[in-house]
Amino acid sequence: MDAKKRCLISRDEIARRVAELAERIGRDYAGGDLVMVGVLKGVFIFMADLVRALPFPVEVDFVRLCSYGAGTATSGEVHITKDVELPLKDRDVMIVEDIVDTGLTLDFLRQHLLSHRPRSLKICCLIDKQERREVEVPLDYLGFVVEKGFLVGYGLDCGEQSRTLPEIFVLEKD
Ligand code: PRP
Repeated sequence: MDAKKRCLISRDEIARRVAELAERIGRDYAGGDLVMVGVLKGVFIFMADLVRALPFPVEVDFVRLCSYGAGTATSGEVHITKDVELPLKDRDVMIVEDIVDTGLTLDFLRQHLLSHRPRSLKICCLIDKQERREVEVPLDYLGFVVEKGFLVGYGLDCGEQSRTLPEIFVLEKD
C-alpha cells in the first residue's frame, strides 16, 4: 500500500494505558485464578506486555480465527483455525484482543468460549475502532477508542508488514 504512517499512539501512552489496565485487572481478580485467551496474531505484543504488568501470574492460551471474505469486506462468517487447549470449565476467563472493528470476531469467540461453561468471561481489548461496528460486544477492559483509520504497529499489520513497530500508526494515503 502506498501510504504514509502517522503516529497515533506513542510508546509512552501505550505503556501507561497497559499499566492502568493491568492494575484494574489486578484489583478485580485479586487472589483469583485467571486464564487469558489471546486472539492471534495481532495480540501477541499487547498480551505479552499486559501479562507481565499484572501483579500475579495467569495461565495463557491462544486462538486463531479468520473471517471469510475478500479484501476488506467480511462475509460475517468466522472460522476457528486454532482452538483453545486449556480446559475453561468453571474458570475465570478473559479474552485479550488487539482491536475490535466490525465486532464479528469477538462476538463469535465470546459465544464459542461461553460454550465451554467458564465461571466468568470478560474481554480486554486494546483498541475499539468504531467506524465499521456491526455487532456490539461488551468491552470490559478497554485501552483506546479510535473512530476510524487503518492502524498498524504494536502487533497490528498491513499485509503482514509493520507488526513489530513499538507505536501505533494510522496509514494515510498520499
Ligand atoms: C484483526 C484483529 C481482530 C479482528 C477484528 O485480526 O486482530 O482479531 O481483525 O476484526 P472484526 O472486529 O471486524 O472481526 P486479523 O484478521 O487482521 O488477523 P491478525 O490478528 O492475524 O492480523
